[in-house]
Amino acid sequence: MCLPTLAELGRVDPDIADNPGHPVTMSTVNSVRQELARAVETWDDTGWPRPAVMLVSGSGLAVDLGNPKGRETPLGDLLPFDTDQIEGHPLEVQLLTTEPDRPVLYLKGRLHSYQGYDAHQTVFTIRLGALLGARTLIMTNAAGGLRGDQRPGDLILIRDQINLTGLNPLRGELPTEWGPRFPDMTEPFSGRLRTLARKTARKLGTPLGQGTYAAVAGPSYETPAEVAMLRRNGADMVGMSTALEIIAARHMGVECLALSVITNLAPGVGNGGVSHEEVLQEGRKASDRLQGLLASLLADPSLVGCNAQTVSA
Ligand code: HPA
Repeated sequence: MCLPTLAELGRVDPDIADNPGHPVTMSTVNSVRQELARAVETWDDTGWPRPAVMLVSGSGLAVDLGNPKGRETPLGDLLPFDTDQIEGHPLEVQLLTTEPDRPVLYLKGRLHSYQGYDAHQTVFTIRLGALLGARTLIMTNAAGGLRGDQRPGDLILIRDQINLTGLNPLRGELPTEWGPRFPDMTEPFSGRLRTLARKTARKLGTPLGQGTYAAVAGPSYETPAEVAMLRRNGADMVGMSTALEIIAARHMGVECLALSVITNLAPGVGNGGVSHEEVLQEGRKASDRLQGLLASLLADPSLVGCNAQTVSA
């Protein structure tokens, strides 16, 4: 019996499905460009203003951030491929207007490569936000703590990242207007925005650590030996998201800030195992602090820097 291919099932681009190693062909990259141009048109058809900031929430972290303009839209309406929803990720899009003249594209939930999306699909919404004009990206994620002094519920500002997913959304010949072929990654997370976040957290009395985030492919959680390796290599927390999105955003000149919520201690650091339910539960417990910090950041006049560049579709 022949099983249907992924392309026949309609899940992924046939260029990708026909190649188990997921090579990025020129036609894949061309179709990414066309699909993004169409998504920009779809956005403009909604009549929503173009965003200056985008915010992406992680597992169980889709906090309420004020009055959305218009109705909440399913993320799928903006995407040229089907989406699979996983628990804790509503996959909704809101447009927030927390500051006059600074609309915020709020992506409640994200796509992960472990769901079967290739790197270009995983970062599609980030590229869409950048093409619409967003110059600042804020992300949250749930992460496993790799240090004994961390506790579930801790908020940690990501200072740097280690991309261990084996993927990179810049593979293939991307339009030169989007960004350089070999982007500098000296400052994946903006020092300016980290200073702003720390100042804001101090004012709110919210403890905020800093650390290096290791991004793994998942979806299995790490073994104790993998955790020991990550710790030895300088990581402070581990998760299954964020790194590809940051690479795509930096490529397009977007200034990035990201916050991890420690939802569990990784095996070998804490005593027990890890479960998705525990991750969601601990994420929800941190919601109030996260919401307070994000709301204050979104309302801060200096959130959007003056030297951000704009790219076109
Ligand atoms: N490992 C990987 N991803 C995660 C974890 C973890 O321990 N916790 C939340 N996301």
